[in-house]
Amino acid sequence: MKTQIPHRKSYVGLLTVALLAIGATAQSADRPALKEVYKNYFEVGMAINRSAATGTAGGANRNQEQVNSDVALVKEQFNHIVPENDMKWQLIHPREGADGYNFGPADAFVNFGLSNKMSIAGHTLVWHSQTPNWVFQGTNPPPATANASAPTPATANEAGTNTPAGGRRGRGFGGGFTGPRASREELLQRMRDHIHTVVGRYKGKIKSWDVVNEAIADGGGTNILRSSLWSEIIGPDFIAKAFQYAHEADPNAILRYNDYGLENPLKRQKLITLIKSLQAQKVPVHVIGSQAHVNVSTTFETMDQALTEMASLGLPIHITELDVNGAAGGLRGTGADVAANISATQGGLVDNVNQRLADAYAGLFRAFLKHRDSLKVVTFWGVNDAVSWRANGKPLLFDGNNQPKPAFDAVITEAKKAAKAR
Ligand code: XIL
Repeated sequence: MKTQIPHRKSYVGLLTVALLAIGATAQSADRPALKEVYKNYFEVGMAINRSAATGTAGGANRNQEQVNSDVALVKEQFNHIVPENDMKWQLIHPREGADGYNFGPADAFVNFGLSNKMSIAGHTLVWHSQTPNWVFQGTNPPPATANASAPTPATANEAGTNTPAGGRRGRGFGGGFTGPRASREELLQRMRDHIHTVVGRYKGKIKSWDVVNEAIADGGGTNILRSSLWSEIIGPDFIAKAFQYAHEADPNAILRYNDYGLENPLKRQKLITLIKSLQAQKVPVHVIGSQAHVNVSTTFETMDQALTEMASLGLPIHITELDVNGAAGGLRGTGADVAANISATQGGLVDNVNQRLADAYAGLFRAFLKHRDSLKVVTFWGVNDAVSWRANGKPLLFDGNNQPKPAFDAVITEAKKAAKAR
């Protein structure tokens, strides 16, 4: 039997040579994985696009080789996924009615997560953007008087019509929606059917859901809620209703309220007011989802303060859409309204962008680690700069060739420092 030992050695040698020949595989095997170095603290996830979920080229201008490389990187580094687009209403439920759903891409996404043993988040059930017009269109004539149950009379339908008063148009739909609008009851019924169907389909598979996305108005001012067709037609209780329906559909799902710009103290105060009011009404909201589409001047102190105040609500926190915009246009703030995305990524990159990105990520992860007791998940919005929705701002840890940037090393170093301090 002794003679077998050298045999085995040369076999291992051959295997090593073969692996080295595949270049990327051998290199990636050497570097640490985010999911490993952070495993004692929180899950590390990322938003996966349709190409990666299905393993086929198509979207995001990635050829098959690039998609294969993206998928390999996702499997190597992350233990949690969320769909970048495929569970948004527009894509999963483009037409009215029970046969108006398109589950193919969403099913592929869920199967990807299950077969790679990743935890899975769903995104998103109720949002003012990427929702088709039919959802808000009226089929029943409204009552002869103004809709008495609409709590915002200034934006209610004109008396006897489903047309918004003052000729206002819905937002987030490319300006294409002009009414007549659905009644409150009709829209609540559609919302309930949608949530029950989608959440019900993935019950036991999707662990957490972004139930309501971006309902809070930007910045200061007196309005807590953004004006949207949801708030205008249903009233402010559209949020409570959405959570109630999601909880009915899967009582074990972790239900998140998700928003951006919570690094801004004024917007954060509105979040705190909203969540306290939901808690007082015993609405099943389980997690604060903070998107964290930030920019390169965001510091440890800013994130520390944000997490401290959000944690005071007594709910766990998930960082749901992390990226750090390196474009000059992104320095104006940490807003992430999809309608303003082009201007946020204009103006070229800031000077020393790689260093500034690394410094910002180091500060952010230091804050995440400090708040490890509240923080359960940190999710990047995309796998690399090439597929990012803010590609011009090169906001992620990996470049378009899936090579780690200095920011990746900075994030790994923070985990190692935390492990040493234990
Ligand atoms: C973005 C996607 O990344 C883009 O592909 C899409 O065109 C627009 O939406 N906040 C959210 C996400 O909750 O759904 C948005 O995703 C980014 C901002």
